Amino acid sequence: MMFLILLLSSSITAASATNYYRDFEITWGDGRGKILNNGKLLTLSLDKASGSGFQSKNEYLFGKIDMQLKLVPDNSAGTVTSYYLSSKGSTWDEIDFEFLGNLSGDPYTVHTNVFTQGKGNREQQFHLWFDPTIAFHTYSIQWNQLHIVFSVDGIPIRVFKNEESIGVPFPMNQPMRIYSSIWNADDWATRGGLVKTNWSDSPFTASYRKFKAKACVWSFGSSSCAMTFPSSLSDSWLNQELDSTSKKWLRWVRKNYMIYNYCADVKRFPQCLPRECKHN
Ligand SMILES: *[C@@H]1O[C@H](CO)[C@@H](O)[C@H](O)[C@H]1NC(C)=O
Repeated sequence: MMFLILLLSSSITAASATNYYRDFEITWGDGRGKILNNGKLLTLSLDKASGSGFQSKNEYLFGKIDMQLKLVPDNSAGTVTSYYLSSKGSTWDEIDFEFLGNLSGDPYTVHTNVFTQGKGNREQQFHLWFDPTIAFHTYSIQWNQLHIVFSVDGIPIRVFKNEESIGVPFPMNQPMRIYSSIWNADDWATRGGLVKTNWSDSPFTASYRKFKAKACVWSFGSSSCAMTFPSSLSDSWLNQELDSTSKKWLRWVRKNYMIYNYCADVKRFPQCLPRECKHN
């Protein structure tokens, strides 16, 4: 028992004060990514010469990851700020949030995707019920063996269920890092590429704070908590399903804010929709 407790305490990242110096590294952008306020704030910028990005030092196998973002204000058309989990290799798994900028006053689009075994094509897009450029909002990914849940301020916007039983691959054994970046995507991002980036408005800056991971940290080729977790553990993000209130919110978002769903795109999948679409 003692051993198990030790094992658990070493493999779970507790919710502790954000320190971007400790948990992340700026990986590209030549000074355009900055860690500020003693590690409590991070900013990424894009100008005509380059974007920027960061990644987590840890790799995780399952977790509930929260990040607060304040997106590029005013005219952000053509820019994409991405925030995602990804493993490595040619059959990688990936869980994506991408925020597609827009002209001042026009809504951002939240683009989501799930890759399993190197295959994506599972896009769902949403508008938000608030302006994401005025204040920080929390964007979360809950990833356990049952499902992946994307949420915004605690409201689920998308669920990707584990349907391995009907032959849909699910991210089960490849550890993932957290990545984020801002780059120019004006060939497709805003109104399908019609609206271009206006460089005279640059630099474009997105801000990050209050990172929180309740997650199994991968180290030395294993992540003990996925297998050994006592199911009675009170903070049970690892085996939690959506409760009825969350399901209601999910329906509300899908009804009012979903603007694209691959599972409804019969033009794109004329023969038959992907298997997981039965429930999506
Ligand atoms: C930008 O605004 C237009 C007009 O409201 C909207 O149709 C579109 O979904 C918005 N987002 C992007 C990324 O184009």
